[in-house]
Amino acid sequence: SSNAMWGGRFAAGPDAIMEAINASIGFDRRLYAQDIRGSRAHAAMLAAQGIITTKDAEAIGEGLLTVLSEIEGGKFTFSTALEDIHMNVEARLKEVIGEPAGRLHTARSRNDQVATDFRLWVRDQADAAIAGLTALSRALVAQAEVGADWVMPGFTHLQTAQPVTWGHHMMAYVEMFARDTGRFRDARVRMNECPLGAAALAGTSFPIDRHATAAALGFDRPMANSLDAVSDRDFALEFLAAASICAMHLSRFAEELVIWSSAQFRFVALSDRFSTGSSIMPQKKNPDAAELIRAKVGRIMGANVALMMVMKGLPLAYSKDMQEDKEQVFDAADSLMLALAAMEGMVRDMTANVANLERAAASGFSTATDLADWLVREAGLPFREAHHVTGALVALAEKKGCDLPDLTLAEMTAAHPAINQSVYSVLGVHNSVASRQSYGGTAPEQVRAQVARWKDVLR
Ligand code: ARG
Repeated sequence: SSNAMWGGRFAAGPDAIMEAINASIGFDRRLYAQDIRGSRAHAAMLAAQGIITTKDAEAIGEGLLTVLSEIEGGKFTFSTALEDIHMNVEARLKEVIGEPAGRLHTARSRNDQVATDFRLWVRDQADAAIAGLTALSRALVAQAEVGADWVMPGFTHLQTAQPVTWGHHMMAYVEMFARDTGRFRDARVRMNECPLGAAALAGTSFPIDRHATAAALGFDRPMANSLDAVSDRDFALEFLAAASICAMHLSRFAEELVIWSSAQFRFVALSDRFSTGSSIMPQKKNPDAAELIRAKVGRIMGANVALMMVMKGLPLAYSKDMQEDKEQVFDAADSLMLALAAMEGMVRDMTANVANLERAAASGFSTATDLADWLVREAGLPFREAHHVTGALVALAEKKGCDLPDLTLAEMTAAHPAINQSVYSVLGVHNSVASRQSYGGTAPEQVRAQVARWKDVLR
């Protein structure tokens, strides 16, 4: 039998394969709340404009709430023959309220309907991402506050570079996640225009009020061009781009936690609550959550690329290709929210091994730059020469198997006669970090200033 929604010109129903490739109800049922919200706003507007009667609009509005509670109560039977969430809801509405249900789709198409529903859904996800980032940032700030003056190695090329503070390292991620938050906010502002009323593509001859439905659904305004309104998915792409960058940041931090929690580093202990064991090796405590967070960027960035490939080359206006937008965005959003929550939990629970951090900070000739800077400041050497003298002292210490502060003054003065006893004061890691008072530098005072600023912003 032919389709009840569009089967007027059809003599036969679809082949089973056609139904299988066409149906989206298996995944777009997730849009049920947005779909019902959009339909209620549309029906109310139709009545306010005198396009349908108030009585019919009330029956539709009430009936949609019944359908909503059926879906939420798990009492709704989804039908593949009805293709998607939009037609499933409308068909059930017909069963519940009868004839007035047929008036809901006046001055509307599934093209503007799905564009509206999906925008509402992605908008919620942008808000959820911002909330997740805020919670994670608070956890990082709390770590930074207790460890503003704990010293740890700073790396370049994952080789010891200069000592930094734990708080400084934590606050670096707070800055990255703040930019991620900004990207979600920016995307949200741009996406917050309403496609509803664009109808199939050309607008409608009915005297609808698009400003009213836009306002009722919390949009800033209706989209200005009906062809654009049903055609573009750039709002979803922007969400995925912001999500990809955020997932990349999460992945980098996750990698650090994997390294830091290893027996070779022992910078941090992850909590039992965010670790797993091995079924063969009894000693194991694995950072699985960090590893999975590290991996999530693959599917999130993959979704971004996949949707971009779906959209490229599509002529205006709607094409069914665009039904392929949802699974990518659903999966990416689910992955991101889970990764944010898991990272927040790990950060809250983890304990830094302060003694190991400090020991590691002092290794690898980490204060060589401080020695070179001392030669510039106290002995007036050009930096390049100071660099060379310090390099020779590093080579000597390496040969002796000791650290820079263990070299004798005689050995120092042999490398350069201007060196005196006071050089030893800059070779300690605490002096090193305390001296880096430049704005945004690693000195505990600078870190505490960052912490204070972000505590205020993140409240
Ligand atoms: N399920 C469809 C989608 O996700 C809804 C829009 C269908 N529109 C149409 N003209 N067939 O895109």
